[in-house]
Amino acid sequence: MKIATFKVEEWMNLNETKAKYNIAETCVDSVTLDELFHLAGRSRQEFFSELSQRRMTYGAIFGNRELKAEISKLYRSINVDDIITTHGAAGANHLALYSLVEPEDAVVSVVPTYQQLYSIPESYGAKVRILKLTKEEKFLPNLDKLRTFVNERTKVICINNPNNPTGALIPEETLRGIVEIARSVGAYLFCDEVYRFLSQEDGYPESVVDLYEKGIVVGSMSKVFSLAGLRLGWIATRNREAMRSILLHRDYDTISCGLIDEALAAVAMSAKDKILARNSKIVRENLAILDEWVANEPYFSYVKPQCGTTALLYCDVDMPSEKFCSKLLAETGVLLTPGSCFDEEHCFRIGYACNKEELKEGLAKLGKFVERLISSSSAPL
Ligand SMILES: Cc1ncc(COP(=O)(O)O)c(C=O)c1O
Repeated sequence: MKIATFKVEEWMNLNETKAKYNIAETCVDSVTLDELFHLAGRSRQEFFSELSQRRMTYGAIFGNRELKAEISKLYRSINVDDIITTHGAAGANHLALYSLVEPEDAVVSVVPTYQQLYSIPESYGAKVRILKLTKEEKFLPNLDKLRTFVNERTKVICINNPNNPTGALIPEETLRGIVEIARSVGAYLFCDEVYRFLSQEDGYPESVVDLYEKGIVVGSMSKVFSLAGLRLGWIATRNREAMRSILLHRDYDTISCGLIDEALAAVAMSAKDKILARNSKIVRENLAILDEWVANEPYFSYVKPQCGTTALLYCDVDMPSEKFCSKLLAETGVLLTPGSCFDEEHCFRIGYACNKEELKEGLAKLGKFVERLISSSSAPL
């Protein structure tokens, strides 16, 4: 089976280890296990001593129930049995789309987004229509356009809220509008919500799974909980037919998730309020740093993100984004992600939820790099 190159992952795989200032990372500054136990107020020794006495079986096939009970509290209408654990959100997206999409199905996906959402359905032979999110529309889905994209053959509408790379957050009214459009044709609404809760403003972020009986959502320990090393995510849905199909396919590619990963994720979930408080502070303080930097930079602009950990930075340099990012990395050690990974040019994705000093130094070096470029030869756009 052929599948397109996963551009953002390929870029990160090749370049991540070369970076001195990694401002391309999308997780909120990852924690150590020591920090996790400290945040959770739990004894590391006790935890590992208990774990060491457990036989390393497949564990709870459908996912650790203590963990799932905590995950269910992130939603309004979800029970333990509506959740299934997966190998990260990457595994969740793959499993859900693999379970739902068949050749010739019609699928709609927003772009830019995490590429799994359109390249996986395409690889299964689905006819994917791309709903382009534009800077001019603040990267929010245009409902009039979406309405013209769907019909009775539409199996799944794929969205990503909050959005990676733009940091856009779909307002509740628009989200309800998307639900109505999906409902009008009986389509599933699949929403990758791995950045949910990383908001710039207080307030409860609605989940598609609570708004729609055919809503299917994905969450993960990686971004919001700073624990990408656990490789643990989940799918939540109230829809029995979708869950049946997901469970059927999961037997073929997962069986169960790692018992150790799930036990550690349960520790983190029991301390979710503390982790969320830590991480909200990081994203808000760091975005303020980025925002001030953009305001003072003559050659950069952006749509200020409302949520998540990333933004698309537009820059007035007439150079392909991949060439720009490679040159920037080689000359300064600063890592950004080229806009080309998201089918967008003259821009780069920044991940601003990293260590503050790294962010500040990375931005300072980026600013000087562009000044040098512009003064040396490349004419501004
Ligand atoms: C929108 C989105 N979905 C899924 C993933 C994969 O996350 P995980 O580490 O949980 O597999 C990422 C990682 O960058 C992402 O940005």
